[in-house]
Amino acid sequence: MANKPTLAVLGGTGALGSGLALRWIQAGYKVIVGSREREKATAACAEMRSLLSERGADAALLSDLDNVEAAAAADIVVLTVPFSHQQSTLAAVKEQLSGKILVDVTVPLMPPKVGTVQLPTAGSAGQAAQAFLGDDVRVVSAFQNVAADHLQSDHALDCDVLVCGNDAEARAAVVQLVEACGMRGFQAGPINNAAAAEALTSVLITINRQFKCHAGIRISGL
Ligand SMILES: NC(=O)c1ccc[n+]([C@@H]2O[C@H](COP(=O)([O-])OP(=O)(O)OC[C@H]3O[C@@H](n4cnc5c(N)ncnc54)[C@H](OP(=O)(O)O)[C@@H]3O)[C@@H](O)[C@H]2O)c1
Repeated sequence: MANKPTLAVLGGTGALGSGLALRWIQAGYKVIVGSREREKATAACAEMRSLLSERGADAALLSDLDNVEAAAAADIVVLTVPFSHQQSTLAAVKEQLSGKILVDVTVPLMPPKVGTVQLPTAGSAGQAAQAFLGDDVRVVSAFQNVAADHLQSDHALDCDVLVCGNDAEARAAVVQLVEACGMRGFQAGPINNAAAAEALTSVLITINRQFKCHAGIRISGL
């Protein structure tokens, strides 16, 4: 796309989605925060606008809608809801996703043992999304290993992002979104490889408990 795509973040009222939205607005993207309830998105955006103004960013790039309207209005849709609600949220917007890229950020954490890798029967959340949506939607899995705390801050991000999906053009588009957030994105293979990034999140949670931190990953040896 020659111009910057308009982004919708479904569940963008939450920790991870609002962090991504802030970063993308600061990089000059139009971002629509989606919610099951429009009022909740409006309230979240009001808070985000004051943060954006403090940071000297253009808060007018931010808008709010319900999830269905947000998915319809965007070029690229980003899903940031808990895994247990991934499928119900996708079902609500399946029609609106037709022909688009869906960036799946969900991690299949199974409380209470979130420090233990427990991938779903589909193989990964990314594969589950692709199977559910069909080939008309290009699912790209990304951002599983970045902590919301870091995204919401205004500091430089010290981590890399693995980007998995079956379509090379879609992966490249998402790598651009990773770079817009100030991180390095690596095309990491087909959607089946999302299992690796999703599993790593439980490993990072285990490390976070030991070091009282929000750990990320770095690719070395390039
Ligand atoms: N937090 C992190 O550091 C982090 C890092 C990497 C990946 N992730 C992954 O990113 C996703 C979002 O994480 P998060 O921490 O931002 O989660 P969260 O704050 O708990 O929830 C995000 C949003 O999901 C929506 N939601 C909650 N219950 C729902 C339901 N029953 N049906 C549909 N939507 C529902 C809510 O939006 P509305 O109520 O406005 O609809 C909520 O604001 C998760 O899959 C998580 O594993 C998180």
